[in-house]
Amino acid sequence: MIAVFDSGIGGLSVWRELYKLMPEQDYLYLSDSANCPYGTKPVDFIISRAETITDFFISKGAEVIVIACNTATAAAVEHLRAKYSIPFVGMEPAIKPAAIASKSGVVGVLATANTFKGSLYNTTLEKFASNIKVIERVGEGLVECVESGKFEGDEVETLLHRYIDDMKSECADAIVLGCTHYPFLESAISRIAGEGVTIFNPAPAVAMQTKRVIESIETRKESNSKYSFYSTGDTKIMRSILLQIDPKISDNSIQTVEL
Ligand code: DGL
Repeated sequence: MIAVFDSGIGGLSVWRELYKLMPEQDYLYLSDSANCPYGTKPVDFIISRAETITDFFISKGAEVIVIACNTATAAAVEHLRAKYSIPFVGMEPAIKPAAIASKSGVVGVLATANTFKGSLYNTTLEKFASNIKVIERVGEGLVECVESGKFEGDEVETLLHRYIDDMKSECADAIVLGCTHYPFLESAISRIAGEGVTIFNPAPAVAMQTKRVIESIETRKESNSKYSFYSTGDTKIMRSILLQIDPKISDNSIQTVEL
């Protein structure tokens, strides 16, 4: 059973890739909507939420945990790996493929404040982006738009122009989505970034990595896969996203939980 969590529904952009790649697996998803966003919260608070969620997942029989949140990965993955024996797969900022693909040598990165502060992001930058220019923008307000189901419209456009226009004027030809909520804004991001700008979403690579982890531990196969989706807050937008991913997902698999 693969358990997936995020501060909110953003991690469904990762779950979507996991489900595409491994539809036969059992899944648990937890949206910590009552505490969203994590992007500006103290690191200790995020670590404590990650522990509570991990304990919940282990009590439900999880075998692998995917931290479908760049912010929680940055804050807590090392701590979690040291404390628990269950394997964790975290988000990797897609700096390397963006740096390789960029012809202009300028890459834009959109992420939360905590992700930019974390050592994971900064080490990745040192390793793969020493020869390119990186324009970092905190996507303030974007997580809230996604959480309220606004993937398009004036508010989204105004915010995106605020972050992407600078990247464009500096000739960035690659934009890294450094927060799992942002793939839900990908159409608007692509439109505003314009032609010739490639958007990099690490979710497919994270799904591949999870598959490798699963293959290394898997001892049994069940014939019917099962899904459960939990939220510590409202489930309305979660429901509508899940129905877009697969209309067969039943309402009964979505519930609220107090953690
Ligand atoms: N989806 C998250 C991420 O990937 C967290 C956003 C937030 O809660 O601020 O960073």
